[in-house]
Amino acid sequence: MRILLFTGKGGVGKTTASAATAAAAARGRKVLVLSTDPAHSLGDALGVRLGPTPTEVDTGLYAMQVDAQRAFEQSWREIQTYLTGVLERAGVEALQAEELTVLPGAEEVLALLEVTRQATSGPWDLVVVDCAPTGETLRLLALPEALTWYVDRVFPAQRRALRAVRPLLSRVSGPAVPRDDVFDAVERLHRELVQVRAVLTSPATSVRLVLTPEAVVVAEARRTLTSLALYGYRVDGLLANRVFPSSTDPFLAGWAAAQAAQLDAVRADAGGLPVLVSPYRAVEPVGLAALTAFGQQLYGDTDPAADCVDPLELLEVRRSSEGFELSLALPLARREDLDLTRTGDELAVTVGGHRRVLALPSALRRCTVAGASLSDGRLVVRFEPDPALWMRP
Ligand SMILES: Nc1ncnc2c1ncn2[C@@H]1O[C@H](COP(=O)(O)OP(=O)(O)OP(=O)(O)O)[C@@H](O)[C@H]1O
Ligand SMILES: [Mg+2]
Repeated sequence: MRILLFTGKGGVGKTTASAATAAAAARGRKVLVLSTDPAHSLGDALGVRLGPTPTEVDTGLYAMQVDAQRAFEQSWREIQTYLTGVLERAGVEALQAEELTVLPGAEEVLALLEVTRQATSGPWDLVVVDCAPTGETLRLLALPEALTWYVDRVFPAQRRALRAVRPLLSRVSGPAVPRDDVFDAVERLHRELVQVRAVLTSPATSVRLVLTPEAVVVAEARRTLTSLALYGYRVDGLLANRVFPSSTDPFLAGWAAAQAAQLDAVRADAGGLPVLVSPYRAVEPVGLAALTAFGQQLYGDTDPAADCVDPLELLEVRRSSEGFELSLALPLARREDLDLTRTGDELAVTVGGHRRVLALPSALRRCTVAGASLSDGRLVVRFEPDPALWMRP
């Protein structure tokens, strides 16, 4: 089973690329393409009406539109209201509040639950996901870890504290007191989200980043590439779409030259990642035939589902002469955008406004941070054993 996630800036061709990849891959396979986008563009691209369950569009090719709104009403509203209340009442510390503002729209989260459900219990050889535009997807992908942090740290204490005082409080403050079933709902959802993250960061899953070779789009793609790595998601290829052919017409020739320069920069920065190129079509590539042709042109003789790169070690801890080194892949990250904070048993890595909190393994907890460096797309943090910490039980 393989999962391919397509993301990228708004309007660059994510839906088209997802549908084209699924269509080209569905030869003798069972392939599901699904969209987490509440707009019905996947159905529009394929030229069929899609519902909340898989519809067979062609032999072996199925498509569906996740109905996140309904799921939202069923399971999230209660929790969301509660969390908001907790934040307001509990005088949440800055760091916690920051982690919580990472909470994305619940609809996207629930859409990912459906992706996981289909991937783990459906009959599929390949699941292709047409994701929301870059920013949304990133926030959504960061959620399980942010929520884990919250559920592990804040929740148990709060729950214990509230159990003790509830009998007193319920008389005075009524609905302000969180009920046990709200805690249960959050814990259930948290378990599901941990599973979502496990599935989406497993070696079977990779992300393909769609871009058009224009300066603004490429700049955002760089940031996305770094943030995806930060959160542990593996990008296995870039897809440059809507590339103008060379031409004698001055208008087109101007665009073609500007795009060629951007493409060169993308290739130079991609650090070995394959960059697939798709030309600007004379007409919109809509309908099954056009999308299949799009996919065949894109992948040529190679299998669209094949992993384009070796799974690189995203996060590793190894011994060094001084103690240990924690190494995290951060392609295209720049030094000035990077920040590291050690708080007790955790290391918070921030890159360009995105933060990941890493729980340190026990060996590293007994060490102090001796230094850090960023080179060749990897952050290396050096740890030295601290005798005082080493004596800790
Ligand atoms: N190579 C191409 N040549 C010509 N038109 C294209 C090409 N790729 C995509 N399009 C068209 O560009 C439009 C936007 O593509 P698409 O809907 O796939 O983008 P998207 O990234 O999914 O957008 P959104 O962010 O709104 O979901 C569509 O009308 C699509 O048919
Ligand atoms: Mg789309």
